[in-house]
Amino acid sequence: MLMETERNSPNLNSIPVVTYDELKKGDVSSIHKIGESFQKFGIIRIAHHPLKSEARAKLLDVAKQFFSLSAEVKQQYFDSKTNGMIGHIKLPDGLKDGGQSGVGYFLEGAEFWHSYKEPFDRQQEKALMIENVWPKEVENFRSHVMESSELLNEISYQVLRALAIFAKVPADIFRPLIHNGWSMHRLMQYPANPKAVPGTIRVLPHRDVTVLSFLMAGNNNGLEVLHHKKWLPVTTEQQDLLVSASEILEILTGGFYKSCYHRVVHTPTSHLPRTTFIYFAMPAPQVMLHPLPHFSLRENSKMKTKEINFMDYLEQNLLVNLSYFKERIPQ
Ligand SMILES: [Fe+2]
Repeated sequence: MLMETERNSPNLNSIPVVTYDELKKGDVSSIHKIGESFQKFGIIRIAHHPLKSEARAKLLDVAKQFFSLSAEVKQQYFDSKTNGMIGHIKLPDGLKDGGQSGVGYFLEGAEFWHSYKEPFDRQQEKALMIENVWPKEVENFRSHVMESSELLNEISYQVLRALAIFAKVPADIFRPLIHNGWSMHRLMQYPANPKAVPGTIRVLPHRDVTVLSFLMAGNNNGLEVLHHKKWLPVTTEQQDLLVSASEILEILTGGFYKSCYHRVVHTPTSHLPRTTFIYFAMPAPQVMLHPLPHFSLRENSKMKTKEINFMDYLEQNLLVNLSYFKERIPQ
């Protein structure tokens, strides 16, 4: 049997790329590229996507404005009833290995802002009934976050549609998951770390507990993806969007698609503060974690079927009490 060798492993720039137009048009080669990449690496790059540089700049600008507010002001936006799952949270210093599946968290005093896709369709019987909070100190914060959330949500539909077509299942099979989903926007600020040693661990290896995760690419951000037992640094064009498959997609497809096992290492720029964002395309909280119709569990899947729903699974993994959200799941 032909074994893949190190020489055949991807180099630093080989995360496959598709353009958004090709994806949207259902271009066959793009669908193959994205499908194969999600089976091989669990990650792909999207070029020329709708989240243009101007929208990204506006988003990062309001994020920087918020994170530069005083600790007292920001503290007002910490929501204790959700343990920081809505609004602002500042993490403690240090690295922590937490979560049942070995999920690692970047701590080091990082700050997050969490908001959820709006508008929640009140007519949708499965929609989660929660309200975002918004900082009144930063003009246009809500509109810039929501603008990018809408765009990223639309991109997630197109990615999932391509993945369904590649898997030869009904093209819209994943759409209801996201439509009723609990997708979250996370703005992040990592403080300067003057003691950071390039190459040392910044975020412990983990799989995201979402369907898809979107993050802005960029050279030398320290993201690495495990492939054939080797950590491959991901360096890409600055303007590209990275989309990774996460645990829930692997579970719902029975392992047809592979969740991206990744980590982050320190880089020579870790001594500078960094503001960025991640958009998590999440399923509805009550989705049971077993393969969807047309998919069956593959033996080689790392992620096995769970006899619990997404919300319970997320709670177990995050080690955060999500009872506030659970109480708002329509029965
Ligand atoms: Fe992650």
